[in-house]
Amino acid sequence: MELLCPLCGEPLETIEKSLACPNRHSFDIARQGYVHLLPVQSKHSRSPGDTREQVASRRRFLEGGFYEPIAKAVTRAALDAGIQGEILDVGCGEGYYGAYLARALGCPLTGVDISKEAVRCAAGKYKAHQWLCASAAHLPVKDGAVSLLTSLFSVTLPGEFHRVLRPGGYFLQVLAAEDHLLGLKGIIYDRLTEKPKDLSPELPGFTPVKTETIRFSFTVEGEQVQNLLSMTPHVYRIGPEGAARLRERSRLTDTASCVLNLFRRD
Ligand SMILES: C[S@@+](CC[C@H](N)C(=O)[O-])C[C@H]1O[C@@H](n2cnc3c(N)ncnc32)[C@H](O)[C@@H]1O
Ligand SMILES: [Zn+2]
Repeated sequence: MELLCPLCGEPLETIEKSLACPNRHSFDIARQGYVHLLPVQSKHSRSPGDTREQVASRRRFLEGGFYEPIAKAVTRAALDAGIQGEILDVGCGEGYYGAYLARALGCPLTGVDISKEAVRCAAGKYKAHQWLCASAAHLPVKDGAVSLLTSLFSVTLPGEFHRVLRPGGYFLQVLAAEDHLLGLKGIIYDRLTEKPKDLSPELPGFTPVKTETIRFSFTVEGEQVQNLLSMTPHVYRIGPEGAARLRERSRLTDTASCVLNLFRRD
């Protein structure tokens, strides 16, 4: 993928073990193979995004195969639409979905996440792809360089996504529905007060192509119960009583419920 310098917007080239622009801004390619392209002023905290513990929990959970139906649905949607070309997975996490999709489509993949721990983990396992620590709000990617931009359980920034997608390129998002993980929520919260969500957003500059619901049940046991909690935003909201109730559970059957939306860039 053609990358741009996050400081001046000029093209980046690989020079030995770094990426550099004509204005001599230079970014090291880390030993694990990822590149840190997040300027300090874009960070709202010292380590933005998911923490090392969350990333490790997500890796263990996803490697258990529990969410493979989501990876399969994303792949099927891309294949049905005949999508080929450069894939950019925004909020890529530890890389599971992006790598799955790239393998199925036989296309090159770049994964971007604001969490350094996430891209470090992704680069350690999926070495064939490009992994960048950067913000979705300022993607270090040339205008029109992307054929398929994916965002799974992460952010949607239509203006920036429109800029990096080529005309006729696709944006595929997966959003958690209101009844996603109701079993888990029923254990950890006394009352369920979910705000209504807009699961079919209108995005300026994009035309909706298809919407589908992905819903399936799965059972986790042992440490996978805690891994499931740790990879959700509930890990920040849970109180001590809810946490104690979940610790008593050695087995949990739950339902994943998500919406997949595919858009074409105008
Ligand atoms: C719920 S996780 C989903 C990760 C992955 N897509 C998956 O489904 O396994 C959300 C991810 O979005 C990343 N993220 C949040 N805000 C972001 C931003 N502004 N730019 C890039 N990544 C962001 C987080 O660091 C985290 O890895
Ligand atoms: Zn530069």
